[in-house]
Amino acid sequence: MFGMTNDAGRNALELLKHDHHEVDELFKQYESMKEATDDSAKEELVAQICEALTVHAQIEEAIFYPAARKALPEEQGKDLLDEAAVEHQTLKDIIGRLEIAPVEDPLYDAGVKVLSEYVKHHVHEEENELFPKLRSSDMDLQAIGEQLAERKQQLESRQSRSAGNGSRTRKGSRGQQRSERSQQWHGQGAAADQQSRNTH
Ligand SMILES: [Fe+2]
Ligand SMILES: [Fe+2]
Repeated sequence: MFGMTNDAGRNALELLKHDHHEVDELFKQYESMKEATDDSAKEELVAQICEALTVHAQIEEAIFYPAARKALPEEQGKDLLDEAAVEHQTLKDIIGRLEIAPVEDPLYDAGVKVLSEYVKHHVHEEENELFPKLRSSDMDLQAIGEQLAERKQQLESRQSRSAGNGSRTRKGSRGQQRSERSQQWHGQGAAADQQSRNTH
């Protein structure tokens, strides 16, 4: 399960593909249980998905993408890697909104679905466009794999420590007013709308 993966010995591309596969399994699990399961189990699974994606994005941004920029000639790597960086921004934006969304919101399942589709699109580009180019570059896949595994382990143990302290965003947010969370999930327009109803 998450946080207990053994990445030792995996080269960079194997490690990242393994991460992609794991998160895909979590999305499938969500899809199969979303109708029949209680809200807290859904919320836990979504927290797990968001944490896994956050760690994955961090190790790619800190280690893998810079190494790929170095390894590929500009005409092969620049556009792909710029696009990947922008897609990570969008992913983080969707994750951030999902992390504060109330699980009982009628749009919650749709939010998870949109995240899964966006992840699929991004992963497809990495695995089918970027990885093949790197396989034929002189990137030291084994050495980068070791760096990724080490950073991943550090980030995961930091996450589980903060979860233990009860300081994770999701845990901390459960006590918040539901209306407040719902306003954040639906954006400023809904918040302003709610406020104007309250003052009239
Ligand atoms: Fe990525
Ligand atoms: Fe990735």
